[in-house]
Amino acid sequence: MPIFAYDNLFQLRSSGSSLLMQVTPAGRLVHLYYGHSLPEGDYTLADFPPTPSQPSISPNSPEPDGIDSVGTALSEYPTFGLGDFRPSAIQAVGEDGTRVLDLRYHCHKIYPGKPRIPGLPATYAADDEAETLEIELMDDPTGLIVTLVYTVFENHPVITRSVKAFNGGQKPIKLLRIDSLALDLPENRYDLVHLWGCWAMERTPERTPLIHGGMKISSTRGASSHTHNPFVALVDHEATEEYGEAMGFAFVYSGSFQIQTEVDFAGQVRLLMGLNPDNFSWTLNPGEQFNTPEGVMVYSDQGLGGMSRAFHKLFSHNLIRGPWRDKDRPILVNNWEATYFNFNEEKLLSIGRSAAELGIEMLVMDDGWFGKRDDDHSSLGDWFVDHHKLPEGLKSLSDKLHEMGLKMGIWFEPEMISPDSDLYRAHPDWALHIPGRPNSPSRWQYVLDMSRQDVQDYLFERMSDILSSAKIEYVKWDFNRNFSEVGSALLPPDRQGEVEHRYMLGLYSLLERILTAFPELLLEGCAGGGGRFDAGMLYYAPQIWTSDDTDAIERLTIQQGTSYCYPPSTMSAHVSACPNHQTGRVTPFKTRGIVAMGGSFGYELDLTKLSDEEKEEVKRQVALYHELAPVIRNGDYYRLENSPTLAAWETVSADGTEVVASAVVPMARIVNTHFVRLRGLEEEASYRDMDSGKVYSGGMLMHAGINLTPYRLRDRDGVMIRLKKVE
Ligand code: GLA
Repeated sequence: MPIFAYDNLFQLRSSGSSLLMQVTPAGRLVHLYYGHSLPEGDYTLADFPPTPSQPSISPNSPEPDGIDSVGTALSEYPTFGLGDFRPSAIQAVGEDGTRVLDLRYHCHKIYPGKPRIPGLPATYAADDEAETLEIELMDDPTGLIVTLVYTVFENHPVITRSVKAFNGGQKPIKLLRIDSLALDLPENRYDLVHLWGCWAMERTPERTPLIHGGMKISSTRGASSHTHNPFVALVDHEATEEYGEAMGFAFVYSGSFQIQTEVDFAGQVRLLMGLNPDNFSWTLNPGEQFNTPEGVMVYSDQGLGGMSRAFHKLFSHNLIRGPWRDKDRPILVNNWEATYFNFNEEKLLSIGRSAAELGIEMLVMDDGWFGKRDDDHSSLGDWFVDHHKLPEGLKSLSDKLHEMGLKMGIWFEPEMISPDSDLYRAHPDWALHIPGRPNSPSRWQYVLDMSRQDVQDYLFERMSDILSSAKIEYVKWDFNRNFSEVGSALLPPDRQGEVEHRYMLGLYSLLERILTAFPELLLEGCAGGGGRFDAGMLYYAPQIWTSDDTDAIERLTIQQGTSYCYPPSTMSAHVSACPNHQTGRVTPFKTRGIVAMGGSFGYELDLTKLSDEEKEEVKRQVALYHELAPVIRNGDYYRLENSPTLAAWETVSADGTEVVASAVVPMARIVNTHFVRLRGLEEEASYRDMDSGKVYSGGMLMHAGINLTPYRLRDRDGVMIRLKKVE
């Protein structure tokens, strides 16, 4: 069993990682160890002696406790006000108006499997896949009971965390901050890796040493955001893509978040992850409970690559759910970059006819099919078919597409409302707003108040009406602006700090209702491209539009960055037109295909305008992707290189028999010699190149590498090399 508890010591052991903690004589829960798995043993606090305090400046424990001071001890869930001057994981105000909390051990329980978190997305596990420990801590004066929930996976190097706060006292308690995950480490050996970006340039990896004092990766945008992703890694200074220690932390949430690190004077590290406290408060009346979202901790001793592969496996098997989890996704064509708002049924059918001829499986009708939406100035909220564009309605379009052998997908942006819409004219209160302050538009739209049940009900009614009016197999769920003037007409002034989180609970509830009503539906997440690419959305949407930047060369970095935490199958990637609409770059059709085949594959251009040669290329790509899809979905992914002169990546099928290696030259130099060294193969096994027939040993491919020179790759050229293990 992965969880052992004896003599006040808790040992958690996943496949590959261990976490140890102990209750002190005075009832404090101190952290002893997190890292590579340790053999089961009789560890005690004495084996992990805490750093002594500096007596002249640090308050000491009021009673003898095996630790000198909470100011230097490693804590499992640090609180404010007792002499631990590092950032605290929780802040709450009780009747006396102070923020001091003294959480002491109360009881614990251990049970098989993993509990759900009410109303929130989370990883899941069967009873024989994981075990859960709940430790209850209590602050006597307020009666606040804080339960730390740890789930340890048997087959993944993963421990998940969440927290429950229950008001067991007689008076209301106001939570001002409540993190999902706190981790103290005794020594600073780490670089912080995180993913920053902006619209159309999401998830660029950045690696920087931790500094004394604090660092913060966060979003206050009401979305996990383009600018910072709710993921970080702490990696040993020496660690590389394949060697050394890397610990990854992902937040299963799609709204505002905060990940904070602190290095204290003794070089001890604290990492905290949770809801962003900037615009958060939550009143807990006696008898009420608050549940935090989940934080996921992954441990790897095989560098960043090992960490990513562990995330990919966990998310692919224990987060994504529903019928599409284990199925190849349809190869689609989306009409956005083909037509923007300028389409009608005939135009869509003409694209559909070309798609069907070329073997593409689904047509997705993007923005512009509803209300009077000929540009982005109006109609969000008016989810009624525009009969000027689709005179015979959705059913007619869907029937005609299905007759051609195509599935049909449709775009929604449910959470938004245009000031110029019938919905806004009828319900101005349904937008997030603050009375007495003008609302700031963005892309001519406001955000609906998803914390309201009537708003959720309206959206469910409109969406289910549309989805049952015709055969629609897929929904692209968009979200194109960030929050401002966050206020809800239904909550009193002292509860306005709850709006952002209640919004997320409302969004998740609507997503769940839609999926329950339409269980076969494939949802694709989207937020102005990849502005909400997070583990929270993946629980509902097994694929997410990676970026509005469809330029294949830009996508090299965006997709590799995304792969730090998220499986390739979750990244929607399309071949788009040239010159590229975002960058103006011209890239060979073949390269665009190779890059898009690194994720869930499709097209985003006017297929009717392709040359015969391009059409033949599409047919080849479609046939090839059918072969690759299971490998991409289940295989082990390796980032091989990403430099201005070469980007390369590789997937090895789960059974190790198939290898797909792709390389693109973003910018050719006259001397352009590259050997791509593969990974994850068997040294002694032989692998046959499926194009040339050449046979290589695994050792040769991994140590000498494949010489790319004979491929004569010129500027922006790419090559995909497929190998099969010779039995
Ligand atoms: C966002 C999406 C695009 C497209 C447009 C439609 O920007 O990311 O793919 O759907 O909205 O308005």
